Amino acid sequence: MPEEATRDVVTFHSYVLAQDEEVSTEFIATYRRIFEDPPWNEYKKCPSCIQLDGNPLKFSRETFDKLRAGKCNKCGLVLVSYFSDEHIRNDLRNALSRKNPSCHFVRHNGQLIGFCYGCEYSYEELEHELELNGLVRGLENAFGRKRCAYQDEIAIDAPYRRRGYAKQIFRLRHQDFLASGIQIGVVRTQTKPPSVTYKWYTKSGYAIVAAYGDNGARIVLACDLTTLVI
Ligand SMILES: CC(C)(COP(=O)(O)OP(=O)(O)OC[C@H]1O[C@@H](n2cnc3c(N)ncnc32)[C@H](O)[C@@H]1OP(=O)(O)O)[C@@H](O)C(=O)NCCC(=O)NCCS
Ligand SMILES: [Zn+2]
Repeated sequence: MPEEATRDVVTFHSYVLAQDEEVSTEFIATYRRIFEDPPWNEYKKCPSCIQLDGNPLKFSRETFDKLRAGKCNKCGLVLVSYFSDEHIRNDLRNALSRKNPSCHFVRHNGQLIGFCYGCEYSYEELEHELELNGLVRGLENAFGRKRCAYQDEIAIDAPYRRRGYAKQIFRLRHQDFLASGIQIGVVRTQTKPPSVTYKWYTKSGYAIVAAYGDNGARIVLACDLTTLVI
């Protein structure tokens, strides 16, 4: 067998417009594989009785515990995806239709195994999008009035983690934002328990600018991208 047929081929590419149905379907499948697993298994609800309406990022600890159990604690039904395909697709499309979007995909032997995306937001737009009163003030106090990017989702399929792929796509997105003249990067994650990204970003120089939900376990981090070393 020729060597190429057995070799693992990992590729990185920028993805700008999410209009292609095939790529969208692939993206949704990868998104679900990653975010329906712990620690983010919040994207589930009881198909029958618990309609967990609202912003999952603002759910209480009690709600999360119900979700983590995997089954509805009222009727025992297995929980199903919180977000519809349309919701996940629109989230990416929304980010890519805004100002200065950046999106990078990672493939292993052609299969989509990871992605990151984000785009430019003014402080006010971000406060509105994340529904976090006081975010504008927090960012202004920390950095003054600057151009800012929301560094939205980043994810790598579980079997491919700890190989530096997240770091590579993070860097590609970072370079895109710098090339667009953006100075401030904002991310959202959790501290209790500390997510991988919380440890990674704070070690790299990100600082907390807002805490909310779950008694402050959910946080917004920000940093000056022009001096960030990652
Ligand atoms: C977070 C995630 C994208 C990291 O992907 P990855 O490809 O494994 O990360 P990398 O190998 O590029 O490592 C990036 C940095 O994180 C650190 N890191 C990665 N996984 C870690 C772990 N399990 N524990 C501690 N540190 C970890 C690495 O050490 C590295 O930092 P360093 O090189 O400065 O030491 C991946 O774990 C994931 O998809 N998790 C589920 C989705 C998620 O949590 N997304 C973020 C939402 S805020
Ligand atoms: Zn139920």
